[in-house]
Amino acid sequence: MDDLLPGFVAVEVAADADFEGELLPAEAAHLSPRAVASRRREFTAGRVCARRALGRLGVLGHPLTSAENRAPVWPGGTTGSITHTAGYCAAAVARTPQVRAVGIDAERRTILPANVRASICLPEELDWCARRPGEDWWPAVHFSAKEVVYKLWSPLVGTWLDFHEARLTLDVEAGTWTARIDPRKLDKSPGAPARFDGRFHVAPDLVRSAAVVPA
Ligand SMILES: CC(C)(COP(=O)(O)OP(=O)(O)OC[C@H]1O[C@@H](n2cnc3c(N)ncnc32)[C@H](O)[C@@H]1OP(=O)(O)O)[C@@H](O)C(=O)NCCC(=O)NCCS
Repeated sequence: MDDLLPGFVAVEVAADADFEGELLPAEAAHLSPRAVASRRREFTAGRVCARRALGRLGVLGHPLTSAENRAPVWPGGTTGSITHTAGYCAAAVARTPQVRAVGIDAERRTILPANVRASICLPEELDWCARRPGEDWWPAVHFSAKEVVYKLWSPLVGTWLDFHEARLTLDVEAGTWTARIDPRKLDKSPGAPARFDGRFHVAPDLVRSAAVVPA
């Protein structure tokens, strides 16, 4: 994931052992006792990676709890993001106020069903994907980038953002994307950023996206 982020962001990608790591008591309290084994493993790997990344910023042993909206509660002076998908987990953290928000996302490179594609992509985004026959991963790239947009929007603005409230344009050669927020949403969101700029990468089995909002 660090290939998609500037060097001042500390990034940790989980090794196999991290999925079996230790949670701090305050973190374990945020995992439902009914959590299935796969949820326990991904939650654990996310916390272990996030604490290791925070350690690189000099923040040691701080439990990473979750807010009511499920967002991680980052220690004072830091912000970050966690992602996990089958067999892959990463965390990225940076210092505030130099960085206002960090967003990362990873998804398995699957072919999304038509109804899912339509719920994520605007008609013009679907048209863009349709102009790339045989490259069936582009809707998954849109999904991943929009998840990043939400992980930036949510801590900065504090409200819900629908998939159709961000319009994505991708530069395939550069591996970059820009998300522009629907002006009607901005009218209802004083001070909210109007656009987010990020990077993406497509591997045979994994799609990754990331972005930061600088000060
Ligand atoms: C929250 C959401 C973005 C998570 O994405 P995901 O692909 O399902 O899952 P990921 O593994 O990549 O990320 C999960 C992590 O995101 C983090 N997260 C959850 N809610 C969050 C929020 N509101 N803000 C920031 N981070 C959040 C958590 O760390 C979570 O892991 P944890 O529960 O183990 O701590 C997604 O579930 C969601 O609700 N999406 C709908 C909103 C949206 O994406 N709108 C698009 C706007 S263009």
